[in-house]
Amino acid sequence: MMEARIRGPALIRGEARVPGDKSISHRALILGAMAKGEMEIRGLSPARDVRSTAECLRALGVELSLEKEKALVHGRGPESFSPPLKPLDCGNSGTTMRLLAGVLAGRPFESVLVGDESLSRRPMRRVVEPLSLMGAEIHARQGDFPPLRVRGGHLRGIHYRLPVASAQVKSAIMLAGLQAEGETVVEEPLPSRDHTERMLLFFGAQLERDGTRIRLVPGELRARPVAVAGDFSSAAFLLAAAAPRPGAEVLVHSVGVNPTRTGFLEVLREMGADVAVLGRDEIAGEPVADIRVRGRELRGIELGGEIVPRMIDEIPLVFVLATQAAGTTVVRGARELRVKESDRISAMAENLRRLGAEVRELPDGMEIRGPRRLRAARLLGFMDHRVVMACAVAALFAEGESVIEGAEWAEVSFPGFFSVLEGIVHDR
Ligand code: S3P
Repeated sequence: MMEARIRGPALIRGEARVPGDKSISHRALILGAMAKGEMEIRGLSPARDVRSTAECLRALGVELSLEKEKALVHGRGPESFSPPLKPLDCGNSGTTMRLLAGVLAGRPFESVLVGDESLSRRPMRRVVEPLSLMGAEIHARQGDFPPLRVRGGHLRGIHYRLPVASAQVKSAIMLAGLQAEGETVVEEPLPSRDHTERMLLFFGAQLERDGTRIRLVPGELRARPVAVAGDFSSAAFLLAAAAPRPGAEVLVHSVGVNPTRTGFLEVLREMGADVAVLGRDEIAGEPVADIRVRGRELRGIELGGEIVPRMIDEIPLVFVLATQAAGTTVVRGARELRVKESDRISAMAENLRRLGAEVRELPDGMEIRGPRRLRAARLLGFMDHRVVMACAVAALFAEGESVIEGAEWAEVSFPGFFSVLEGIVHDR
């Protein structure tokens, strides 16, 4: 296990770039394999999770070459996939497992999807149910957990209302729907990230959207070159580091600013930070911009409801910032955090308490009283990339040298995180 040492309080100033978006990278590889034609992907995320998707596709007979941040996928349609010789290893990646379950639901052979210790504890009933309704045979351990054994079938399109907002589940149904007979309609309780919808449209799929309702007609996809914007969720750690300190400033270049992802910027503004989105552009159907945050004294806020799915992966950072904000912050409606790579509510509560913060766990969120002077501590990564990186940001606000256990987990989504962070940290 690797440890990271971080000394606070630090002055945060500088500019940075972040790796390609992880969510978009998974989709580009999968849709590229399902499309017909040769597809080049630039700016592909080097994250371990994305490598897991690429390796699973290879095991299904998909021809793809990977360089550092570039990929070439030779798509020959889902019909060309071949039965895998051994279980498909999704590693730590829930997106890999859930999206591939949707793809494999339409393939007339048996495959087994397995994951690491953390993924093996995550709920899969949410994909098993709709995919079974479409006609696939899927078995999960105890009806809910990996491994998933999928025997694809002759699928029928369905009309399905998701019980919780989840882009992974929504995407699994659409990827199965592409291979089904008849149209598929998916409805979400609240809008979640829409990268799959955007990329399907970019590849010429027949898809209509009306609020949180999507209608998809099966058909062939046409490969087109894709460029991937910087990952907003990775940029968020750097932006958060600057947010609570007057005099701090961070500029992150070429970041995806899809509105279904940027709820965190709205929260930063509401807490009082100075946020600027500069030089907006569009690549492969996704908006991209530079984001600058200038630190200010922050105030506590209450948040919940519609914004939660649009910032679900950034909520651990809100917990951290709330310790530095004046007044009480209350986060609710985020129960889903308990079934991520770790239980992110209890993991963050534990770490923030170690730093001396005043926090109260709620079933679906947290209450934090600030501002608190944090003291350095030994922090636990819980084998969860976002917990590790959120702890690194918290450690920058604490007096003395903190140690973060399991620092290597950052590689799951943000290889090079600690050196990028070092680039914007200056001793006071
Ligand atoms: C993701 C969707 C979200 C998010 C995860 C990536 C995706 O999960 O937390 O990091 O790429 O579709 P849910 O679908 O479980 O909300």
